[in-house]
Amino acid sequence: MAEGSFAEVTLRVFRGDKDGGAPADYSVPLVPGMVVLDALHWIQAHQAPDLAVRWNCKAGKCGSCSAEVNGRPRLTCKTRMDSLPLDQPIDIFPMKSFPVIKDLVTDVSWNFKVNRKIPPFQPRPGVAWKMDQRDVDRIQEFRKCIECFLCQNICHVLRDHDKQEQFGGPRFFVRTASLEMHPLDGASRARLLKDELGIGLCNITKCCTEVCPEDIHITDNAIIPLKERVVDEFYDPLLMLVRKIRSAPKS
Ligand code: SF4
Ligand code: SF4
Ligand code: FES
Repeated sequence: MAEGSFAEVTLRVFRGDKDGGAPADYSVPLVPGMVVLDALHWIQAHQAPDLAVRWNCKAGKCGSCSAEVNGRPRLTCKTRMDSLPLDQPIDIFPMKSFPVIKDLVTDVSWNFKVNRKIPPFQPRPGVAWKMDQRDVDRIQEFRKCIECFLCQNICHVLRDHDKQEQFGGPRFFVRTASLEMHPLDGASRARLLKDELGIGLCNITKCCTEVCPEDIHITDNAIIPLKERVVDEFYDPLLMLVRKIRSAPKS
């Protein structure tokens, strides 16, 4: 649909809180270049000053404005209105995997509890502080994460199966990968990945990768290599035999 073909568009926005709610329709005048967050701000300014929306940078970098636009997890500040079908109401809902506080604002504090489980960078003793550029590039990808939690929101292990107690989620596999693949880090987080972050529950559907606004290859570059580390550490029969021989008492 060509830009400017519609004078007005209807946004169907969830209004409610932890006790429930319902969508409400708002008619918004379209402006060239408008993004969904602009439309929400227009509603706040002209029709519903109490509409709760979290945002900060409006530049796709703070990760605050995450929501579900027509059922797809998106940054509302990076979703242009002219990329949506404007001849029908546009659904704007809060992220489904997190409890609603009010309207489009969800309680994402569970993520920060998961984050606290991950041991920080621990420098390996006795190594020169030099890194190959390829190693730098590899972890740099993971440092692009803006903690929008769209990947956490889409992951079926959290979204449909509510495994928050057993599973850390893709965002925290990315963070763990940034530490585990750091050439100067000396800690092993394999047991944490297996027992506390539940990496075995991930069945590599790649849904997390598809919604990441930073184009981090979450599944291929973080999760699969971490799964391989866990397999090497706990399930490789040859390595298990070597460890057994090494730990056997000398006669
Ligand atoms: S690849 Fe794994 S972490 Fe990513 S959405 Fe699928 S199950 Fe979740
Ligand atoms: S990995 Fe991507 S989708 Fe997940 S929190 Fe970070 S930026 Fe968002
Ligand atoms: S407002 Fe910062 S990412 Fe959208």
